[in-house]
Amino acid sequence: MSKASVVLGCFYGDEGKGRTTDHLAQFADVSVRATGGNNAGHTIYVNGVKFAMRLIPSGILSNKTIAVISNGVVLDPKVLLGEIEMLKSHGIDVDKFLKISDKAHIIFPYHTHLDVMLENKRKNKIGTTKNGIGPAYCDKYERCGIRLEDMYKADFEENVRHLVTVKNELLEMAGEPLCDADEIVALYKGYAEALKPYMCDTVILLHKYLKEDKFVVVEGAQATLLDIDFGSYPFVTSSNPTIGGILTGTGLSARDIGDVYGAIKAYSSRVGEGPYVTELMDATGDRIRELGHEYGTVTKRPRRCGWLDLVALKYAIDINGINYINLNHLDTIGQFDIFKACVAYEVNGTVTTDFTTNEDFLKAAKPVYKEFKGGFGDISQCKTFEDLPEDARTYINFIEEYTGTMVKLIGTGADRENMIVR
Ligand code: IMP
Repeated sequence: MSKASVVLGCFYGDEGKGRTTDHLAQFADVSVRATGGNNAGHTIYVNGVKFAMRLIPSGILSNKTIAVISNGVVLDPKVLLGEIEMLKSHGIDVDKFLKISDKAHIIFPYHTHLDVMLENKRKNKIGTTKNGIGPAYCDKYERCGIRLEDMYKADFEENVRHLVTVKNELLEMAGEPLCDADEIVALYKGYAEALKPYMCDTVILLHKYLKEDKFVVVEGAQATLLDIDFGSYPFVTSSNPTIGGILTGTGLSARDIGDVYGAIKAYSSRVGEGPYVTELMDATGDRIRELGHEYGTVTKRPRRCGWLDLVALKYAIDINGINYINLNHLDTIGQFDIFKACVAYEVNGTVTTDFTTNEDFLKAAKPVYKEFKGGFGDISQCKTFEDLPEDARTYINFIEEYTGTMVKLIGTGADRENMIVR
């Protein structure tokens, strides 16, 4: 019986989880997406073709890996069907490989409207992706959500009409445009038909795959510090993109988890609002953004940028049980002559290496930095750790010593092959 490998983001998302997954997908029989929705965006290049994936696990691009969207995901059928068509147009056999959980909750237009409305009315903006993710999870926990399997029940239309009436009352009070129940019912009946062939109980399926000794890779979405429980609340997403969310989002047990990969960049970034201790609001931050092309995949928003935060990384490792780090953008940081990493926080005169998401703590925390020598030159052709320049190895050795965790995958350039595997 095999164990599943899991890929998670350590900070605020966009650490390059897709790279780790893409590497593991070469060996994977099954790739799984467990949490979040189309707020995520992975860009993967295969043979020079760019694929922007929002919902379907990128493992499907190998055209031999089963792709599972499990119960923890919230699904916008329009986005999902667009992605299915896009993949089919590139010759991917989606009908053979895609499996979608009957328990995944469905995003309706009122969720998206409410997301926009609530964000506009918020005193302290979160900067959501406005894809209806939060309101869809709210309905799930409020127990009025509609799951994929509910779309085939006799009372589906009645339930949708009822929900549209209730949501319209809220939208009307806020002076927002209302949703049209007839339109939604017609549209979603069509979506239901189109999605039916992919629906199954993915819990049964995943346990069967593990018993058959298949290699299962779970692709996390978002990241640790965006976790609803362990992130910088309220500036977080509405799910648990940490290891616990992987379990509840798939039906796998703790016993079924093997390696946990944590993706990080050699620097850091954040989209949206919220505290960010190592943010650089100066020309250095701008330079990281330009060198690393740090603009949102989904929203195109410029990302906030700063140095790597090892204090927060240790927290992510503890929360998730990460045993391997995937360090991306080593080439990017290597373009600086001198760069830094945060090794402690100074909070109101006290130096600490303990991380907590308390907002006052994070606002007061001043990063204590250690400097490193950059100027790595072109490292894209380095195939082994030993091929890397000494200063690059010094940085990686330091990360390993600080965190007690092996840096197993090292991104040395944008292409698929620019990755050192140790
Ligand atoms: P929501 O998930 O759309 O509700 O957005 C909540 C917060 O999470 C916002 O700050 C978003 O920018 C952030 N967020 C959500 N998904 C991602 C992601 O995939 N990468 C980076 N940030 C994300």
